[in-house]
Order: sequence, then structure tokens, then C-alpha cells
Amino acid sequence: MTAVAKPLAGQTALVTGASRGIGRAIALELARMGAHVAVNYQSSEDAARAAVASIEEAGGSAEAVRFDVGDPEAVASGIADFVARHKRFDVLVNNAGIALDGLILRYKTEDWQRIVDVNLGGVFHCSKAAARSMVRARSGRIINVTSVVSATGNAGQSAYAATKAGVEGFTRALARELAGRSITVNAVAPGVIDTDMTAALSEEIRAAYVSAVPLGRLGRAEEVAAAVGFLAGPGAGYITGHVLAINGGMSM
Ligand SMILES: NC(=O)c1ccc[n+]([C@@H]2O[C@H](COP(=O)([O-])OP(=O)(O)OC[C@H]3O[C@@H](n4cnc5c(N)ncnc54)[C@H](OP(=O)(O)O)[C@@H]3O)[C@@H](O)[C@H]2O)c1
Repeated sequence: MTAVAKPLAGQTALVTGASRGIGRAIALELARMGAHVAVNYQSSEDAARAAVASIEEAGGSAEAVRFDVGDPEAVASGIADFVARHKRFDVLVNNAGIALDGLILRYKTEDWQRIVDVNLGGVFHCSKAAARSMVRARSGRIINVTSVVSATGNAGQSAYAATKAGVEGFTRALARELAGRSITVNAVAPGVIDTDMTAALSEEIRAAYVSAVPLGRLGRAEEVAAAVGFLAGPGAGYITGHVLAINGGMSM
């Protein structure tokens, strides 16, 4: 029988927003690769515990960790506690995100503030807390989840696209800043993926999205997770500052 490869054995990873959707699939993939995974969530405690149970049933190791990525103090103490307990922090996946769509003339200032706090602030706070330990270890992987709309734009998503484009700029700047410590910083930019976030769309809008995808279907969370697993694994050691499109050809 062939042994299952565990390239992340002995490592720890934290995936933000991993109770559902893309984050959950990423947590399962990193655990399958051998990492001990922290499944971060904000409010879906039952779903986060179910994700941990799925990882354990598959023979992996995980824990649920609650904090709001938009709250700098909660992030700092949540990550410091994780590092204190495990004595290492190898992979951070900044996946947590919210959409809060709306046309600009009706867009509420509080929605703008919240989406910036979570999608952009969350990436900054978590990366800062993770970098503290990764810089000391002179190794680490930070992988950010952005979106195809940061490159293509989308009506009704100006705030969302601004946060995701911001994260791509952050990715490249931090990649340069941390390269000297052998820490890579990359992003994956999914197209339209079948999750709770897109389940909220009408059939008509989903059909319009599918017609814009050369591969002719929505993506699966597991397909994003496979790319994140690659960027976290040994094969991606010489890739940094890159944004990998996972969108069925939408942005060609
Ligand atoms: N689905 C798509 O088509 C698509 C396309 C491109 C990019 N993306 C990006 O991919 C990422 C995941 O999307 P998804 O579709 O999987 O979303 P989702 O199904 O709506 O799940 C969002 C996850 O983020 C968590 N979360 C939300 N706000 C949080 C906060 N403040 N602190 C901590 N966790 C928080 C949620 O946890 P709770 O349930 O506990 O709140 C949940 O686990 C997002 O960054 C999204 O922008 C998605």
C-alpha cells in the first residue's frame, strides 16, 4: 500500500473563517496534508465544531478558535494564545471575508467601515500577529484569499472589490518585506465558487455568472483548497508575491 504523503506533518496552521465554505475546505486540505489546524470562526460555533469533527474523523488534528478578524485585540490575543500552546505557527490562511454588496448611491457608511475592517483589516491584524512568530522562526507561509473582482470589477461590489484589491497590494508589499526571513506571502483569487456566499444570489444572476466562465460552471471550494494546499506545501517554496487565479478562465 502507498503511504499517504503528509508534507505538513508537525506543522501548525490557522485558517480564518473556516466554519463554512472555502475556509472549511482549506482547513480540511491542510489537515489532510498533516498540519494541526485551527478552525477560526466568528459566530458559527456548531459549524466550526463540525469542521473539527470532520478533520478528526479523517484522521487529522484540529481545534476551533473563535475571534472576529476585524477586532485587532481579539486577533492579537487569539493568535498569541495559539502560538503559546503550540510553540510554532507555520501557515496562516486569511480567508474570512464578507460581501455586503450594494450600489454606491445607497451604500451605507457603516457597511463600508465593516467590510474594510473585516476583509482588509482582518488580513492586516492576522498577518501582523502571525509574522511575529514566523519572523523569529525564519519560515512561514501566509496565503490570502482575494477575488476575481479585484481585477475585473463588478457593479454593486465597489467596496468588496476595493478590499480585495487592497489585499493583493498588501500581499506583494508583505512578500517583499518578509522574503529575507524565508516567509512567503501569496494570494488566491477565486472566481464564483459554490458556497453560502453565492447561494444568496438569484438563479438568474448565477446563470449570468456561469455564462461568463469559459469552463461553464461554478467552482468548488475544494478546488480553491487544492491551490492553497499547493502554496502551503514544499513545492511552492520559491513562489512569493503571487496572485493565483482560480476562476475557470473568467479573467482571461
Ligand atoms: N464564494 C465565492 O464565490 C468567492 C469568490 C471569491 C472570493 N471569495 C472569498 O473567499 C472567502 C470565503 O468565502 P466563502 O464563500 O467561503 O464565504 P462564506 O461561505 O460566507 O463563509 C465565510 C466564513 O468567514 C467567516 N467570517 C465572516 N466574518 C468573520 C469575522 N469577522 N471573523 C472571523 N470569521 C469571519 C464565517 O464565520 P461565521 O460563520 O462564524 O461568521 C465563515 O466561516 C472570502 O474572503 C470571500 O470574499 C469567495
